[in-house]
Amino acid sequence: MSQAIPKTAKQWRITGYDGLDALKFTEEAIPILSDNQVLVQIQGASLNFRDIIIPLGKYPFSQKPNVVPGSDGAGTVLAVGKSVTRFKPGDKVVTILNQRHLAGSIDARSADSGLGASIDGTLRSIGAFDEQGLAKLLKRLGADYIINYQETPNWGEVAKALTGGIGVHLVVEVAGVLTMKQSVASLKLDGIMSVVGFVGGEGNGADAPNLLDPWLKHYTARGISVGSRQQMEDMCLAIEANLEKLRPIIDSRVFKLDQLKEAYKYLQAGENLGKVCIDTE
Ligand SMILES: NC(=O)c1ccc[n+]([C@@H]2O[C@H](COP(=O)([O-])OP(=O)(O)OC[C@H]3O[C@@H](n4cnc5c(N)ncnc54)[C@H](OP(=O)(O)O)[C@@H]3O)[C@@H](O)[C@H]2O)c1
Repeated sequence: MSQAIPKTAKQWRITGYDGLDALKFTEEAIPILSDNQVLVQIQGASLNFRDIIIPLGKYPFSQKPNVVPGSDGAGTVLAVGKSVTRFKPGDKVVTILNQRHLAGSIDARSADSGLGASIDGTLRSIGAFDEQGLAKLLKRLGADYIINYQETPNWGEVAKALTGGIGVHLVVEVAGVLTMKQSVASLKLDGIMSVVGFVGGEGNGADAPNLLDPWLKHYTARGISVGSRQQMEDMCLAIEANLEKLRPIIDSRVFKLDQLKEAYKYLQAGENLGKVCIDTE
């Protein structure tokens, strides 16, 4: 059943880089779709650490002034441009972060297409997205061990001990230079440390392992910048095949679109347990 298309959409824009007051809530006309664009009624978006650091002026990647923030979102296709072949009205879709990263390794052009930074993002009720930047959403915890890093500062050694002293195959390093030594301490020989963020703080060079360390300790360290559309689609398939085992961890508090600043502060203060979600309808 096709939905009526409203004339305007509510959205946030990042009007400066001096704090959360730079976020402005507006209502604007829905743009006329170009041939390769898809108009999406966004049903929900969720926040990332990245969304907070952009209006604080601390984001280290490319961004454009006055952008609509938000990289994560899911919704329903309302209309498609005349050259669009992958989607039709009614399809459920999900965004990918780097809108031009379709498959394979990231390149400079893909890295310059971050949703909610270089390209208008998901914190709006309806948005036009390029066909290439969407993936079909199919349908929609259990840890063996939990180590609290605040109570156990040497959590890397403790994690390694839990594997019988062998070490873990892969550590996803989200906290940054302040915790990398612990991540390395948890690794097995020939293990991998994927560096994805710095939510623990910026620290200084002295806190981090240097480039000789991977050789001395026999591990691989690499930076990862989200994934391609192909990987997103593979992930959706894996999720759908394991619906009984995988459940998203969503905070009990869901914010309305006009409460976005409150949501940013809630995430910034670390009050959340799971994803902070925004109801954009
Ligand atoms: N490269 C990429 O593709 C990519 C993709 C997504 C996110 N990121 C980046 O990854 C980082 C994390 O994002 P996220 O969305 O995963 O954040 P998140 O959901 O808030 O998770 C961060 C985790 O790190 C823990 N943590 C914080 N400080 C720590 C410390 N000093 N030592 C050990 N653990 C610590 C937090 O534990 P508590 O809550 O208990 O403090 C929390 O479990 C951010 O820098 C983000 O920009 C990068």
